Amino acid sequence: MIREMAIPTIGTDFAGIRWISDRPDEEELSFRSPDGKTQFLRCEKPIPYKDEFLFAAGIDGLSPATQYEVSARDAEAGGMNRTFRTLPAPPGKRLFRFGILADSHCAFRDKPGSPRLFWHSLALTEKYLGRLADLGAEFAVLPGDLTDNGTPDEVEAVRKIVAASPIPCQVLIGNHEFQPELFLKAFGLGKGWQSSDHHGFHFVRLRTFTPDELHADSEQFRWLTADLAANRDSPTFLFSHFSLHRHETLVYDPDCAVDNVEEIQAAIRGWPQVHAAFAGHKNMPTLSVVDGVAHVLSPQVVHYECGFDTIDVYEDGFIRIIYEIDELDLIRRSEKAHESPQDIAYRYGLEEGRNFYFSFRRQSRENG
Ligand SMILES: [Fe+2]
Repeated sequence: MIREMAIPTIGTDFAGIRWISDRPDEEELSFRSPDGKTQFLRCEKPIPYKDEFLFAAGIDGLSPATQYEVSARDAEAGGMNRTFRTLPAPPGKRLFRFGILADSHCAFRDKPGSPRLFWHSLALTEKYLGRLADLGAEFAVLPGDLTDNGTPDEVEAVRKIVAASPIPCQVLIGNHEFQPELFLKAFGLGKGWQSSDHHGFHFVRLRTFTPDELHADSEQFRWLTADLAANRDSPTFLFSHFSLHRHETLVYDPDCAVDNVEEIQAAIRGWPQVHAAFAGHKNMPTLSVVDGVAHVLSPQVVHYECGFDTIDVYEDGFIRIIYEIDELDLIRRSEKAHESPQDIAYRYGLEEGRNFYFSFRRQSRENG
């Protein structure tokens, strides 16, 4: 019978569904549209994992902002079903898509018992940069912790992967880059903070090797103030490894954010062109809106729920969609390394913080 079901990926017209059964066959799911039409989802080659079988299927051709129902066809499943709602079709034109591949923690050795998939980290990083290219991302942002230990060998290995990526990569430093100068030099990051423009949007990449590097009296903060003043007319996205917001749902992870959140958020209130701040470090998919700014956390491929995300930028907002890796057995292995269901739910994140549309018009600031 079907034991578990999740709908990790939801777009405006498609969804990705995975489920787990104790049998390899006849495990169809029925998929029902609001007009009563039913079709069956079948996964031809479920992946065996210990005493269970892991299934995944995608469905497309859906309508935006519509509720669908997925239920187990097997009567033994006791009527297990889930409903989900596709994302709304945003107003205005879609301008471009970029990807985020967060915290890949590339390393050469596994750590016994760790839920992080170190042994697969390099291969997953390479593969899913390629997947982002296949999905039409024009570039990828890698918001820190590209390496697990920051050794010269790890830095060189991931530098080669980034150099060979089919799409350009925008790299940030994270707290696991334990030899920060080596890392910054390898990726040509100067002092660790940079900005660039893409289709009229301004992208600012900050240095948060430690959570105290964005204080108002720092050189970086002075640079940031000048950079944003010079780009006042460009809609802007900020990127950092540590979040610029202490997300209320991450109560167990107080080290999620920079140590001067209030100071940074007071400054952001004076920069109405800033629409979103993206971060890694704690990779529970999350959205919090503060003063009309979306604070977004991205998942990571090497640790449950083993995902990455795309951002579709529209004239009036953006859509964030989370994709999981194909390797369902690796997702399950990482998941099983967590002891409690609470840990697993916590890492998966809340549905509303995973796949969503964020409108720039939600800004409440006077001149926003
Ligand atoms: Fe980190």
